[in-house]
Amino acid sequence: MVAILGYSPQQITEAVQDMYTAVAEMPDGHFHFPVGREAFRFLGYSARDTDALPAAIADSFAGVGNPFTAQAVCPGDTVLDVGAGAGNDSLIAAARVGADGRVIALDLTAAMTRKLKQHAASQYGNVEVIQASAEQLPLADESIDSITSNGALNLVPDKRKAIREMFRVLRPGGQLQLADVVINRPVNVNCDSDPRLWVECVVGATVEDKLLAMLGDAGFEDIHIVRRLDYFAHSPSQQTREIAQGFGAHSVELTAKRADHAPGWLHQWLRRGHPRRWLADLHRRGFLGVAALMLALISCYGSLAAVAILAALGAGITLSPGLWAGTIAVFTLLATLLIATGFRRHRSVGPAFLASIGMALVLYALFIDYGVIIEFIGFVFLAGAAGRDLYLRRREEAGRLGLKSRAYI
Ligand SMILES: C[S@@+](CC[C@H](N)C(=O)[O-])C[C@H]1O[C@@H](n2cnc3c(N)ncnc32)[C@H](O)[C@@H]1O
Repeated sequence: MVAILGYSPQQITEAVQDMYTAVAEMPDGHFHFPVGREAFRFLGYSARDTDALPAAIADSFAGVGNPFTAQAVCPGDTVLDVGAGAGNDSLIAAARVGADGRVIALDLTAAMTRKLKQHAASQYGNVEVIQASAEQLPLADESIDSITSNGALNLVPDKRKAIREMFRVLRPGGQLQLADVVINRPVNVNCDSDPRLWVECVVGATVEDKLLAMLGDAGFEDIHIVRRLDYFAHSPSQQTREIAQGFGAHSVELTAKRADHAPGWLHQWLRRGHPRRWLADLHRRGFLGVAALMLALISCYGSLAAVAILAALGAGITLSPGLWAGTIAVFTLLATLLIATGFRRHRSVGPAFLASIGMALVLYALFIDYGVIIEFIGFVFLAGAAGRDLYLRRREEAGRLGLKSRAYI
């Protein structure tokens, strides 16, 4: 296993290159993912596609799915394989495009591109090999008919940039077929100094919905998931299987079409700022309780402050006491319920207990016997409950990832 020392893009790149140099040069080594012909069988590649592949190339196959289920590559196409590795998918694509087509196999890792050049490029006249990063494709705009990629995007630090690059080099109407690892639960803990996590394909992976949204943001349309696979179920490492299960990591095979134009900045901004996306993200990160508490505080102290400021400016407005108290009560109740849902993650009743005390004090102050101090203490309990809930959620996550130190939380 190769060490990754941090999350700077440079360090990620080095760790990824170390890992995939090992897959290229020592494919019989011990990896946490299936490699070679065993991986072809498990991922459902047809013997027709793989039997003719040179043995040395097939040995270093490290795909996470079979992007060809999306059937985006057509005879005569100019195809780009992003993160081609030893080039197995590139050679399969080369057979599909035929003599009239061309395949560009692009990978970050020199050992991979070297291996492909040594073992295959001479037999496949329509394959060109390039060592470059997916984040900066050395190709002209709209020069590619279809893109295939298998297991690379989850390893790329700036995924939006890589997706924008794919959009740029594809011609309008060009097709993307992608197999990649995605997760259901984002990783929130700080694991900057842990050696394993990025190259284990979970920490770097994107939440499935977010990957689809990023493709849409860049200007891809007709985005369809063709197949989902429990990829990590076949990992030889029990720890990897457990981490993957904890974060709902799996692989997807999808297809998408490049639209004629990338969305304009306003369209992009509206897409990215859509309340549904924000809510989904807050929910996944366990921040909905905090958000509801913020709304309760704003409706309580914010509205009082606004009334006072407007009065000072001579624009006196009156606040309906019933509406004011009702709004605060609704958000306080919501915050308590959302904080209590953290129990499903960390199995501790502490945050729910604290939040219930806080809610009772706020409701008492609002509806039974108003007192600023009691109300304030109620909010302090609620804030403590929200903070404790977040801490416990992160501690549970760190435990799942095998991170023991408090520094990760
Ligand atoms: C999981 S392997 C899959 C390789 C190949 N697609 C296959 O199916 O065998 C991921 C590959 O992506 C490459 N890769 C990782 N980050 C990259 C980047 N930023 N740009 C280009 N390639 C990258 C790695 O070098 C590695 O060969």
